[in-house]
Amino acid sequence: MSEPHFGPPREGRPQSGADRRKMRQDRNQLEEHPVSLRRIGALFAPHRGTLVVVVALIVAASLIGLIQPFIVRDLIDHAIPEQDVAALLAGAGGLVGIAVLTALLGVIQTWRATLMGQQVMHGLRTSLFTHLQRQSLGFFTRARSGEVQSRLINDVGQMQSVVTSSATSIASNFTTVVATAAAMVAISWRLSLISLVVLPPAILLTRQVANLRRAITSRRQAEMSTLTSLIEERLSISGVRLAKLMGTTDDDSRRFAESSGRLIDLEMRSQLAGRWRMATMSVIFSVVPAVLYLAAGLPATSGGMTIGTLVAFTGLQAGIFRPVMGLMGVSVQWVSALALFSRVFEYLDADESLPVPDKPQRLVREKVRGEVNLEQVEFRYPGAELPTLQGINLQLPAGRTTAVVGATGSGKSTLGSLIARLADPGAGSVTLDGYDLRDLEPGDLASVIGVVSQESYLLHGTVRQNLEWAAPGASEERIWSALQGAQIAELISSLPQGLDTMVGQRGHRFSGGEQQRLAIARTMLRDPKVLVLDEATSALDTVTESLVQEALDRLSNGRTTLLIAHRLSTIARAENIVVLDAGRIVESGSFDELADAAGPFARLLEGSDYAQRVSS
Ligand SMILES: Nc1ncnc2c1ncn2[C@@H]1O[C@H](COP(=O)(O)OP(=O)(O)OP(=O)(O)O)[C@@H](O)[C@H]1O
Ligand SMILES: [Mg+2]
Repeated sequence: MSEPHFGPPREGRPQSGADRRKMRQDRNQLEEHPVSLRRIGALFAPHRGTLVVVVALIVAASLIGLIQPFIVRDLIDHAIPEQDVAALLAGAGGLVGIAVLTALLGVIQTWRATLMGQQVMHGLRTSLFTHLQRQSLGFFTRARSGEVQSRLINDVGQMQSVVTSSATSIASNFTTVVATAAAMVAISWRLSLISLVVLPPAILLTRQVANLRRAITSRRQAEMSTLTSLIEERLSISGVRLAKLMGTTDDDSRRFAESSGRLIDLEMRSQLAGRWRMATMSVIFSVVPAVLYLAAGLPATSGGMTIGTLVAFTGLQAGIFRPVMGLMGVSVQWVSALALFSRVFEYLDADESLPVPDKPQRLVREKVRGEVNLEQVEFRYPGAELPTLQGINLQLPAGRTTAVVGATGSGKSTLGSLIARLADPGAGSVTLDGYDLRDLEPGDLASVIGVVSQESYLLHGTVRQNLEWAAPGASEERIWSALQGAQIAELISSLPQGLDTMVGQRGHRFSGGEQQRLAIARTMLRDPKVLVLDEATSALDTVTESLVQEALDRLSNGRTTLLIAHRLSTIARAENIVVLDAGRIVESGSFDELADAAGPFARLLEGSDYAQRVSS
């Protein structure tokens, strides 16, 4: 290949880093989770009819397209020189008819294939979503952040394009190449032989140039995304604040300038590479017919061929170029399509959902007293060496508040999640009114247990949507009374859009304490019998704290409550206090008992968070 002005990328390989990385990832994925073609086939089995129609349309379109060169040959060799009006009309009409027919077939094919692709994707997407939602929290903790979402959004989304564009273009390229080659031989075997010498190097050259261009383009994209992320990250409020605090503003500017500078170079190369690609293509597209004309005229090779034959053949060989190029990239497409299915199937096969009982015990809400009992409970996070909780015996009397205190990481939140059955204990049991949580119908359990967690998570939507999501069909009156109970009604009614205020990034930025009170209102609407309140660890200002406090008090009033407490004021009010240390209960009793006992609780009060909160 001649020296290109833009030079090869520094790695000296035609494939870019990103492409190779993706290829490697795809291969690894397939090695770890092989896909059976039968399973993919099964997805399409319900659409067998459509599949047959699509394939038939593809074959029909390529065959019909092949009639064209024969008509051209006939026009040039007979109809035109002989001025045969009938033949001219027939030929011209035939050409138009073929064009219209192939265009129509193409449209119908895309329509059927897209519909099929969409239906398959819809089925997969829905079952995957439902399946993933059932998985335990552990599954999501272990997945890399964003990966679960990406599989559902990107991988399933790409499947549609695999079905409608990759698969159909492979099929159509294949039939076109085979049919065109056959027609070429039928029209002139001499010219076919000559093409066999000229076409392969031309195709290889084009491919090389295309690869080179792709490599440069993806390096440019990588650099572009570095620049974009610098802009997004460093010019956000938190980013600017952090850079100022760290004193890295100048450094960041330098990095930005460097990245932007590299982009000039890459952009130049990428533009030139694009130009080179076009240039090579157009040269090749002239060279091949030139060689054919030459061969057709030279006495040694002409063999008395007619002009019509030559023109028809030139048209055919021009048409075989693209499909051949397309087929050369098939193995990459094939691997990435299989990897796509493999990733989706892997998630469909993963089953870490908490077991649902065969004959679940039903709860009648009104009859639930709300007594919770933990007996010899042990819990270990998957992969963890030591249990996070062990030997836990704890009784939460109906309607009473029990506080749990302990150092950070001692297992308080974990204990709370067992009561809401976000996880099952490894040993021992958690019961509600004497029923093991594992025997209860999950929906029934969810309807009687409420959790306000350390980080309140609000959905993207309006305040009203967030509340109605927790309690579908709640009346306006109930909503406002919950907001009142959560000490947030005044704030909401002062907002211009009231309940219809958007929550989150594009809406009102509720402060941490406000978000927590919204979460409390949400739980109030559900009116649970048993409550797990995980106090926010981040310090709230005293006014907010007392507001949240009051909201929590109202919420827990009359309900069985496990209060994970970080503040002295809350601990003091609990009827019973248990102290957790490294996953074990080391002390329990009333506040006064524990404070006098000079044990772990007293030490906790002295040297820790709890004491600081009191003094502040
Ligand atoms: N999903 C998880 N996977 C593995 N380990 C976890 C997971 N969640 C928590 N842990 C570990 O379990 C231990 C107990 O965590 P937990 O969140 O229950 O503590 P905590 O008492 O609520 O702490 P804090 O007061 O900071 O909220 C910690 O050592 C923590 O690192
Ligand atoms: Mg916690």
